[in-house]
Amino acid sequence: MGQKKRPVANTTIISKKRPRRNSRITGFYRLVHEDRLSMLEKQGFLDQSAVSLLRQTGTVLGWEKANTMIENVVGVFELPLGMGLNFKINERDYVVPMAVEEPSILAAVGHAATIFRDAGGIYAEAEPSIMTGQIQIVDIPDLKVAITRLETAKKNLIHQANELEPGMLRRGGGALDIEIRQLKDKKNETFLVVHLYVDVCDAMGANLINTMVEGLADEIELLTGGKVFLRILSNLTDRRRAAAQVSIPIQKLAWKEFTGEQVANGIIRASEFAEIDPYRAATHNKGIMNGIDAAAIAAGQDWRAIEAGAHAYAASSGSYKPLAKWWREENMLYGKIEMPMAVGIVGGPTRLHPTVKTCLKILGVQSAAELACVLVSVGLAQNFSAIKALSTTGIQRGHMALHARSVAATAGATGEKVEKIARQLIQEQNIKVERARELLKKC
Ligand code: MEV
Repeated sequence: MGQKKRPVANTTIISKKRPRRNSRITGFYRLVHEDRLSMLEKQGFLDQSAVSLLRQTGTVLGWEKANTMIENVVGVFELPLGMGLNFKINERDYVVPMAVEEPSILAAVGHAATIFRDAGGIYAEAEPSIMTGQIQIVDIPDLKVAITRLETAKKNLIHQANELEPGMLRRGGGALDIEIRQLKDKKNETFLVVHLYVDVCDAMGANLINTMVEGLADEIELLTGGKVFLRILSNLTDRRRAAAQVSIPIQKLAWKEFTGEQVANGIIRASEFAEIDPYRAATHNKGIMNGIDAAAIAAGQDWRAIEAGAHAYAASSGSYKPLAKWWREENMLYGKIEMPMAVGIVGGPTRLHPTVKTCLKILGVQSAAELACVLVSVGLAQNFSAIKALSTTGIQRGHMALHARSVAATAGATGEKVEKIARQLIQEQNIKVERARELLKKC
């Protein structure tokens, strides 16, 4: 985008047609639910129908719990929760809860999981739960001295970090190692970054890492004579990767009017396209994250952290690459996904959110590593279905049925009328809300 200023939409003209609203609101966090809604109504952001919708805070989470999770809560946001069926991972059967708004993700993932299962299942593994904390040190008077002192103090710093979180040490984890990196800023001045590597066991670990790196700041300033600036975990958790692999006999890939050879060749060609073109790789990876995010949300994970790690890892070679690849060896199609997977089964929403707790029970995972294995397997399955469809029938054919249903529902159809109208829309190849409304009137 360079330095050039881009024109912005003419908000003055637009705002003339809009009611006046005032977003300067103070003390909102102190108000109870009803008063927050009244306040927003008074300031022109809610009408009566919005107030009554937001009053429904769900029977599961409810206002009280939601209000302990984040600030300024006014309601509870719902998403469809579906089940990713048919998964066999490391010889164990899983049903994967997935929360997502996009049609066809659940159907697609279940379809791939059936093919994988019939071919012997998915094999997945996860590295130990090593997270990276970063401590940036600037304005260092003598770089060489600072590095020597940090190197000498390594053991002591690790010990201090563990004293800040003794529980993790008791659980068999804790700070393990320290690495010192030299980087140059834009003025070509060198600064240091201390990486603290911590085994966080079954936690996602963000809070723990942040406590440790903040807690080490004073000591590091003393040692280096510099100023500790940022201290925070890194979401490029490349020491905490998970991988999943499948191998499928090519003749088992025959589908609709396509032979197994055609399907396999299509998948491989699509994979190669993603390997050489970042424009395609972005979409390829988006398809992978369709599944991973949906399963991560249902399992109460920080899916933004997973996303950040995924894309940073995809770009870590210097150009943006696909997270999953497909290739052929003799009569088998192989697929493999590998990516950072910082997830936890203790703490945060996994303790607080009743639906998350239920989803984790359905999953039946007993460790963060097992959850990581499930999530990468879902990503691989999602990718398989997407590129299989793209390289054969195209995705719109499959999407249309689901799309037509949601168009029918948007037009106001309920119950059996949804299916009836959706069928008609598909037959007419005119999947538009207006047409659905006309059909609904005649129903
Ligand atoms: C759509 O949400 C995801 C896909 O675009 C993924 C892909 O192209 O591989 C279908």
